[in-house]
Amino acid sequence: MEKTLVLLKPDAVERRLVGRIIAIYEEKGLNITALKMLKPTREIVEAHYQEHKEKPFFQSLVDYLTRGKVCALIIEGENAVKTVRKINGATDPAEAEAGTIRGQFALTKGENLVHASDSVDSAEREIAIWFPEITD
Ligand code: TYD
Ligand code: MG
Repeated sequence: MEKTLVLLKPDAVERRLVGRIIAIYEEKGLNITALKMLKPTREIVEAHYQEHKEKPFFQSLVDYLTRGKVCALIIEGENAVKTVRKINGATDPAEAEAGTIRGQFALTKGENLVHASDSVDSAEREIAIWFPEITD
């Protein structure tokens, strides 16, 4: 079954949206197969977002992800990568469809609540970063 890595970012935790967001994935029929709460180090977040290292928003992105606890999940199901990104909505909440998580609950790119892997290869790389103890 296809796996994807999801992060509920610090704003989701601060706003107590963790339960509601997880329920949306579960109601879709996806399975939560791993879950943890952690305050990530800058090293973890920099590795996770390595593709954006040279972008002007990189430092603020790392500050945001490290400012508090994150909920990291592995979500499994048929077409999990594409389906979860669709449920999350566009990167910029102003562009996100109203029925998506970002469309419903977020206002700005700088605090857009959720992350999901953009491909099966990214999912494998990101799962290794956030769940090094999971080897299957
Ligand atoms: P990206 O991988 O492009 O988006 P997504 O999370 O939808 O895969 O960017 C990673 C995060 O960086 C994004 O969720 C929010 C932040 N970001 C900004 O703050 N400003 C920007 O202009 C972009 C493109 C992203
Ligand atoms: Mg991305």
